[in-house]
Order: sequence, then structure tokens, then C-alpha cells
Amino acid sequence: MNETLPMDEKYKVTLSGYLKEYKESLESTEEFWNKKSRIIDWFEPFTKVLDDKNKPFYKWFVNGKTNMSYNCLDRYMNTERRNKVAYIWVPEHGEEKVITYFGLYRRVNSFARALLDLGVKKGDGVTIYLPMILEAPIAMLACARIGAVFNVVFSGFGEEALAQRINDSNSKTVITADGGYRKGNVIQLKKIVDAAIELSNGVDNVIVVKNVHNKINMVQDRDYYYDEILQDGYVKPAELDSNDPLFILYTSGTTGKPKGIVHGNGGYPVWVANTMKWAFNPGEEDRWWCAADIGWITGHSYIVFAPLLLGVTSVMYEGAIDFPKPDRMWDIVERYGVNILYTSPTAIRLLMKYGEKYPLMHDLSSLKVLGTVGEPINPAAWHWFYEEIGKSRCPIIDTYWQTETGGFTIAPSRELGMPDLKPGSATFPMPGIDPVILNESGKEVPPGEKGYIVLKKPWPGLMLTVNGDPKRYVDTYFSKFKNMYLMGDYAIKDKEGYYWLLGRSDEVLKVSGHRIGTIEIEDGLVSMKEVAEAAVFGKPDTIKGDTIIAFITLKDGYDKNVDTIVSIKKRMRSELGPIMVPEEIHIVNTLPKTRSGKIMRRVIKAVYLNQVTGDISTLENEASVEEIKKAMDLIRKEED
Ligand code: WTA
Repeated sequence: MNETLPMDEKYKVTLSGYLKEYKESLESTEEFWNKKSRIIDWFEPFTKVLDDKNKPFYKWFVNGKTNMSYNCLDRYMNTERRNKVAYIWVPEHGEEKVITYFGLYRRVNSFARALLDLGVKKGDGVTIYLPMILEAPIAMLACARIGAVFNVVFSGFGEEALAQRINDSNSKTVITADGGYRKGNVIQLKKIVDAAIELSNGVDNVIVVKNVHNKINMVQDRDYYYDEILQDGYVKPAELDSNDPLFILYTSGTTGKPKGIVHGNGGYPVWVANTMKWAFNPGEEDRWWCAADIGWITGHSYIVFAPLLLGVTSVMYEGAIDFPKPDRMWDIVERYGVNILYTSPTAIRLLMKYGEKYPLMHDLSSLKVLGTVGEPINPAAWHWFYEEIGKSRCPIIDTYWQTETGGFTIAPSRELGMPDLKPGSATFPMPGIDPVILNESGKEVPPGEKGYIVLKKPWPGLMLTVNGDPKRYVDTYFSKFKNMYLMGDYAIKDKEGYYWLLGRSDEVLKVSGHRIGTIEIEDGLVSMKEVAEAAVFGKPDTIKGDTIIAFITLKDGYDKNVDTIVSIKKRMRSELGPIMVPEEIHIVNTLPKTRSGKIMRRVIKAVYLNQVTGDISTLENEASVEEIKKAMDLIRKEED
């Protein structure tokens, strides 16, 4: 933690620029954001920057009218950006496609017209379940244009997870594809949509993009091919209020039901555009590649909205970063001259495992800046990225943030003043972010000590609410420490003010950077006919961060054998999706519980990891600890 890496003088602008802006953002908040709000155009100016009368339901840019699609597209139509490349889309196999800002504008208008013709109106929910193809940003922008509230569901979720999101977002329209490619296989997305609709409250329209051109079932008067409903023409962008919802994105929390995080039309665009500029400062000619999936917040904010709001050229890649060969990522960097590469620690660790040979096969000299997101980055991976990929020339922008924060909260600022870097630290807060590290009783801990990271002031990217459940918004984020935003992570602030993120403080896992709630998986397991109880926890993994481990007990009459486990895994895969399937499922007779009946995951995890079990004085059934110990001994013996 003591290592400091001075940045090359050409990147270092000294910290004073950053400190000046940072101070202003906290001391003259409204003036500061009044200036920064001009990063987008407004149809009608706001009457107040921040209304905080009804805490913690903050309203930014009150009464302002704007439109995301207008700001990403229309405002460039009379400028040089009209003919600039918006996306270079790289498929898993086959030829790339290039689309300019004008091309995107045309296609977004056509699709917006098609949506209107199907009867989709302002405020209606639309679920988008698409692979990483250009129609994904087109669909998001078309919804934004008419004020329909879209909800993108990651294509690694299964039918039940999809149905739950269709219902919760009240979507009567679903946009999908005939299929998607993943490592050479075709994922049958339309089949999953059909199964999800069976489980849902009913859907009126399904729009299907022809992507893999396979044979699919089309339901008359409900299902339409995307290319058959497009119409030429212009759709006037809806004048939306700053605090009208733009989208809902579901994320895991500490209960079984995922939370629908709602972001709005005013604060969110101002936040994502400013944070991208501060942290990465892309130049007019730079090529940006955010190697995330549009199904997660990183894809929303930094593949779609921030780059388009800043008029940046993006590379967008459909497939897996190590397919068909482990040099795929480096090949794309070289082939398309990527200048800024933004990826996850899991991806770096995976590619690092394949060895230096692969990056050495390619000319990576176009790279200027590197970035990471999603999990804490371990110093070994940081150094590999910095030295083998960036050739010790490119600063690493480690961005700490989450679905709820809309955009970066802690990250080095290349534009305002680049700090010397410490591998593994996300460095300093973005302007407007006022973090503090608290102990259990709400007292600030001294530098170097671990505690809960909490944000004291609101910022424009903060979610508006949890869809349909404002109480959950207050309870989850603003109750542990009253009126302060609880991020749900542990952190340390060191003596020099650098922040070190240490992972989640709740029951949430990060599996390959994907956010997964242990309780969501437990709920999925106990919904199986054989399963009586389940305890799920994360096992540290050198590449993925966490892997999912489950211990279950069975109902009477079911066999404790491998077939049961295989069959449970199979159903978990189709109902919840491949990303939610535990790597290991262990069947035991009983699970350790407290006297009040709460399953003690912590104890099971400690036994499993062969650590001391800690204080188990509140345990009801110590026998089950012994049983898990025995089971683990058996497994270890088999492994030897
Ligand atoms: C974790 C992803 C350490 C953290 C943008 C957070 C990080 C959760 C970092 C949010 C980072 C994200 N260093 N931890 N740079 N970035 N996290 O909502 O635990 O999918 O709370 O958003 O990821 O995950 P989410």
C-alpha cells in the first residue's frame, strides 16, 4: 500500500487544478453544477440546480427540459461531428460495421417512429434483451427519444429473471433478437423471451432483430421483425423533465428481489458526460473502447451515453475477449487503433494468465490511457496492465462506482489534475463526491483504518429511486447512517487521502465483475422442488474475484446424489441464467443456524475455506458444523 507510482510528466498536470474544482464543487455546489450542466443542451432552462427539501429524494435541475437522444445525436447534425464515426462495431466473427453520428441519428429516428406506431408512449416500460449489437444502443436511444422508460436485461439472465424484470418495469414491449453469439455458440434469445412472456403478466409487442438468422417461432400480431417495421423519417425528441425517468436497470441487493434502479433525464447525463471527461479526457480524435456489456451500468453509461454526449468514437465488441484466441483483445486494439481501453480486473487477470506472448504479438502503441472498473484491482494485475499493456506509458484510471451512482465516484482525473498513482487505489473522489469512512456507530475512522464508505452529499448521478419501492431506496441506502449514501463497500482512506476499496460489506458477490446477490441465488435454489434450505457464499478466485458456492439440504424423498445436483444446476441455468449457477453445490443433512433460525453463512464459509469458525456461541446445531467439516475433509481428500 506504500508504493506510489509517479506519473510521467506529460500526464501530470499537478493536482492543483483538481483541488480547485473539487473544493468549488463542495463549497459552491449550485454554482458549480450550474456551469457543468451546460455539457448538455436544454430545451427549457431549469429553475433551481438542487432541490433537497425532501431528503433523500433529491431533485437536480428542477423543471429543466431536455432529451438524451437529442443531446447524443441531433445537436451534432450541423457540425463536423455529423460525419464522425460513432461506433466501430466488431462482431465475434465476420466483418466490422461502421456507423457515423448521422447514420445513428437516422436509425434512431426510424426506430422511434416504429415504436410510436406500435403505440409505445412516453412513460411506458420497454424491456431490451439484446446481445452486443448496434441495435442495442439504437433501441435505447429510440426509447429515450420518445420518453419510453427502457430496461436493459443482460443476455446472460434466464427466463425467470427476465420475466421478473418485464413485470417489475411494467413493460408491454420487449425488444430482442433471434439469437446471439457467445464463443461460437448461438444463444436462443427469442426462445427465452417466449418462455419469460409465459411467466409474465403479458406483453403486447415483441420486436425481433434478425441477427443469427435462425428459424424462430413468431407469434402473429405480437411479434414483429425489426427491419420490417422501420420507417424513414424524423421524430421530434420529447421534451422530458430532468426528473422524468430515463431507464431502469436491475441490480442485486441483499434480498431475493433485484432492485430496479431508476435514473433520470437531467442529472444522469450531466454526471456521466462530466465524469468521463474528468477521468479520461478523450480527445476529438481518440478511439475509446469500453469492453463491458450494455446489460450492465458500465455499458449504459460508458458505451452508450457518455461517449455519445461527448461526441467520441467508440469501438463496440460483440464477443468474448479471449475468443477465438487469447490475443483477441490486443488484436482489436491494434486493428482499430484504440487509444483508451477501459476494462475489468477479471479480464486483465484472465488475459494475464495466458501470458505476455499474446500482447507481444500486437502493436499496442496506439494506447494512451487504460482504465478499470467493477472490482478492486490487485497490485499484480495492475502492474501487468501498466507494464505489459501500457508499456509504462499509460496512466491507469481505476474507476470506483456502481449502478446506483450513475457514473464514477472515485477515480483519478486526467483532465483536472492527474495524481501520482498507487496500484490498487482508485485515488481521489470526483468533484461533487464527498466520501467519509465510518465505523459501525457512525464515527469517522482514523486514516489507515477500515470502515464503511459513505457519501455525505448528493450528486447529479444519484439514482432517482428504486422502481415502485421508494421505501427500499431510503432503507437500503440512507438509513444505516441517516441521510448519507451507503455504498455497501468497505474502504480505507490512507494518510495521503487516497481511497482503497476493499470489497462489499453486504451479501453481494462480484463474479467476473458481475454483481450477484447471494440471497437471489438462495431463493432460486429453494424454489426447486427438491431443495429445503440453501446457503450461498463466495469463494475467492484468483481470476473471477468470487465464485459461487452453495450448501443445500433436501426435502424428504429426494436422493443425495450427483444426478440431483446436475439437474438442479440445469434448471438454475435456464430459469436464472448461466451467470447465476453455483460452481459447486454440496448437499448436507442440516445447515448451521442461530437460535432464531437464521442460517449462518459466515460459519459455513469459514469451515469451507478451512478458516477458524469464529464465535459460534449463538449456534443452535453445532452438529451441522461438524457435518460440513467432514464433508469438506472428504472433498479435500478427493482433491489430493
Ligand atoms: C464494486 C459497476 C473496487 C464495488 C460499475 C461496487 C469496485 C460494485 C470498483 C458496484 C473499483 C466497482 N474498485 N470495487 N474500481 N468498481 N466496484 O453496480 O463493490 O455492477 O459497490 O457497478 O462493484 O457494482 P455495479
